[in-house]
Amino acid sequence: MNSQYELIEHQHDVVVIGAGGSGLRATLGLVEAGLDTACITKVFPTRSHTVAAQGGISAALGNMGDDDWRWHMYDTVKGSDWLGDQDAIAYMCKEAAPAVLELERYGIPFSRTSDGKIYQRAFGGMTTHFGEGIAQRTCAAADRTGHAMLHTLYQQSIKNKAEFFIEFFALELIMDQGRCRGVIALEMATGHIHVFKAQKVILATGGHGRAYFSCTAAHTCTGDGSGMALRAGLPLQDMEFVQFHPTGIYGVGCLITEGVRGEGGFLTNSDGDRFMERYAPNAKDLASRDVVSRSMTMEILEGRGIGDKKDHINLNLQHLRSEVIEERLPGIAESARIFADVDVTKDPIPVIPTVHYNMGGVPTNIHTEVITKNAAGQMEIVDGLMAVGEAASVSVHGANRLGSNSLLDLVVFGRKAAQQCAETIVKGKNTEPLPQEQIDMALAKLDSIRYASGSIPTAEIRNEMQQIMQQHASVFRTEGLLKEGVEKLSTCLNSFGDVSVTDRGLVWNTDLIETLELENLLGQAIITMNCGLVRQESRGAHARDDYPDRDDENWLVHSLGWLDSNNKTRVDSSPVHLDTNSDEVESIPLKTRVY
Ligand code: FUM
Repeated sequence: MNSQYELIEHQHDVVVIGAGGSGLRATLGLVEAGLDTACITKVFPTRSHTVAAQGGISAALGNMGDDDWRWHMYDTVKGSDWLGDQDAIAYMCKEAAPAVLELERYGIPFSRTSDGKIYQRAFGGMTTHFGEGIAQRTCAAADRTGHAMLHTLYQQSIKNKAEFFIEFFALELIMDQGRCRGVIALEMATGHIHVFKAQKVILATGGHGRAYFSCTAAHTCTGDGSGMALRAGLPLQDMEFVQFHPTGIYGVGCLITEGVRGEGGFLTNSDGDRFMERYAPNAKDLASRDVVSRSMTMEILEGRGIGDKKDHINLNLQHLRSEVIEERLPGIAESARIFADVDVTKDPIPVIPTVHYNMGGVPTNIHTEVITKNAAGQMEIVDGLMAVGEAASVSVHGANRLGSNSLLDLVVFGRKAAQQCAETIVKGKNTEPLPQEQIDMALAKLDSIRYASGSIPTAEIRNEMQQIMQQHASVFRTEGLLKEGVEKLSTCLNSFGDVSVTDRGLVWNTDLIETLELENLLGQAIITMNCGLVRQESRGAHARDDYPDRDDENWLVHSLGWLDSNNKTRVDSSPVHLDTNSDEVESIPLKTRVY
């Protein structure tokens, strides 16, 4: 036993790790159900990255014209490039309206129509009548929807007496014969180590955008839950699918919401040409994100980019009425002014496709229970462990997520996780003691990093990883590029064994925390690169120049990637759920697709 650390022990029915949209929605549902719930989070809840979500949350409310959840489901399956699990997508789209109306009742200050209904805007890939018309389906609180959601859910959770452990960094899952029994965490302000025992642990730790050099994600988006899952011997699913948002501010990465194009903004190249009319004659600037990002990249590669280096594109909203900007897009007008020195009423915003979202994550079933592939090749539930939100791959986004389906995923499956716990947990049950050797191993692992006395600073390894990901796992990929990426990244991953941590303390040791985050990122980066190399087709966000077509015969499968303790990756696959087991979706023309 490592006696250097005095352990503070806790027991709860459920521990939620992460306090973004999905973690807070799960927490709120759990406390409402009367379960003893702890939510541990490395940042103050309202600073979680959900705060940066701008455009809105999709739901077929029909406030701005006809709508139907089945049309939403059709769009989501199509947008996923058929890789999404259709049972999960049906569930999400059907539950969207009740989940959003529930948020309204919790107090989200949605923007309003003139007759007082929730305002809804157009977003990429959202259509009516199975692709015939443009849907206005994205419910918005101006361009600060995530901000509004976080504050509302946090306030409701506090009101319902959820217990928060704020600025706690989760170190390792405590696994006991394949079952998750808890988590060990570092309280950053004091350096105390806390051991949480729970009947269920819910990972709600978000994505890992910071594996890349340029992204819209906060510096805190390091996929800590997925990193812990990998170290617990669990796979990550569909990691090669990394979404590039078409409109990150050039040179800075900050998000400019798709809502700008939903309100009538458009993209132009150096000839002033509205090029999306050529690439997507019907949806134009509101085509799905993979299509728009690839089109912008083609324009740049063919010499029609903007600026001295011809390396970006213009986003125009100068023609929009000032009331639209003031009422619907105040946040992006401010971001453009601060980060690009642009007055959006006079000049276009310089933008470039920027890493925005990870479709892949910890695989779960529709009940948000984590699943893995066993030795017999069957998918099985990992007892005690659940995952929600961007950390999870449930999989409702498949190969490409539609804008505004992310906030929806967070609340629908956050809520579902709470319901699942309420149905399966015995309240207040005192479970057997945690396995001491697992705790010792976690502390030994912590020490190995805390006292790391190698020769390479954390920032140097991180920068190397981010540059490799940016160059070798970008919008367009080839076998050569990915192979070289795997080689370079393997070297980078191994160099972590020579990392140098200079601060040996435990109180606010940001050197230590950044190194722990880097370890999490590196695992996810190498899985992403390897899965990208293995998948020999183009689908959604994974565009292979050398395999330009979707190949349903060979690749209509989820990929699974494991990382062993010697840094070796193993890639396997699992089936996509093409059945919804529901008569309600019989009318959806999904079966007409050609496989
Ligand atoms: O463009 C946006 O407002 C982003 C929304 C999303 O990623 O869902």
